[in-house]
Amino acid sequence: MSHQPFDFAQVRADFPILATEVRGKPLTYLDNAATGQKPQVVIDAIERYYAAENSNIHRGVHYLSERATDAYEAARAKVAGFIGIEDSDEIIFTRGTTESINLVAHGFVETILLEGDEILISHMEHHANIVPWQIAAEKTGAILKVVPVGDDGVLDIDAFDQMLSGKTKLVAITHISNALGTINPVESIIEKAHAQGVPVLIDGAQSTPHMEVDVAALGCDFFVFSGHKVFGPTGIGVLWGKREWLERLPPYQSGGDMIEKVDFEGTTYKGIPGKFEAGTPHIAGVIGLAAAVDYLQSIDRVGALQHETALLKAATEKLSAIDGMRFIGTAARKASVISFLINDIHPHDIGTFLDADGVAIRAGHHCTQPLLKRFGVPATARASFAFYNDFDDVDRLVNAVQKMQRFFG
Ligand code: ALA
Repeated sequence: MSHQPFDFAQVRADFPILATEVRGKPLTYLDNAATGQKPQVVIDAIERYYAAENSNIHRGVHYLSERATDAYEAARAKVAGFIGIEDSDEIIFTRGTTESINLVAHGFVETILLEGDEILISHMEHHANIVPWQIAAEKTGAILKVVPVGDDGVLDIDAFDQMLSGKTKLVAITHISNALGTINPVESIIEKAHAQGVPVLIDGAQSTPHMEVDVAALGCDFFVFSGHKVFGPTGIGVLWGKREWLERLPPYQSGGDMIEKVDFEGTTYKGIPGKFEAGTPHIAGVIGLAAAVDYLQSIDRVGALQHETALLKAATEKLSAIDGMRFIGTAARKASVISFLINDIHPHDIGTFLDADGVAIRAGHHCTQPLLKRFGVPATARASFAFYNDFDDVDRLVNAVQKMQRFFG
């Protein structure tokens, strides 16, 4: 796919929802960390699949089933290429980042973790990268250790160095914090963990929408992300794992399609990836995800990231000038996510007030309760940008916040 220079006007026009109005105002969609909008090509691919190609896969000998199977497996290869992986058997389709992490955690409970082993996560993890490990620890007697985060929202690397030890069985860490925007130095984390023989899982749910990620170059052992955040459909996600790891982990769910042979005396399983994909998968989701990957590969992602960084800078500068503004998360290396509070206005009131002006942000704990507790707040307002946002969106956000601040006095 040939890369075009970043053409903002074209990209913006590719997302039909961005031309709509909400509450009589142009939509200013700044909730991209929660989910991305869908380009027309993704919507068309899903519609085409259901209108002309729908069939179950890996089962039929008929024309439509063969076509659906080919499209599904071609999507697997495409997704592998999207994250720099050659062996498409290492791509497992799941329901999303959450299910991908649960699959790995289940496997670690069954085959790796013993009492006294340690799992190392960070204080800025999403609940999806906390709770599965908590449950794994409860089931096995392993210990969950949490690397602290500084006041600026930066991971405490000295603490990480001290906490990583011969007892660590896995480091599970987010690439980019969904609540703060902090970009973690995952390259050096992976290097240090590997120097001690410790595998690393990277939660790429928030990095894949913003930047090209070359998982092979990163060298981690597991990488997980969600389709809906990379402008594909909901309900589809990806687990990539190194072949030797995936072969070592047991099936997560069982039933149709994941078996080699079933007998009441015993059952044998398919190799990867089939072993981890029991039941009829989300075929339309996979096809939509492949269309999203095609779309992302057709635009200049380096230019898109530069554009987002400019939006982040402009929004941060303009919001800083507002009285009572407090940012949660001020790392130097940050993705285009701004968590904020103004005086003692409740974040839900901020969200509701902005919504009246057509500005969609998220207000709440962002599935990071321990992180917000560490900052002494139960919730924040969060504006998160994508490459299809523009400086008018920044101005509409800032104007709405100023209006609200005047309203609340
Ligand atoms: N994890 C998503 C968010 O940060 C839902 O909003």
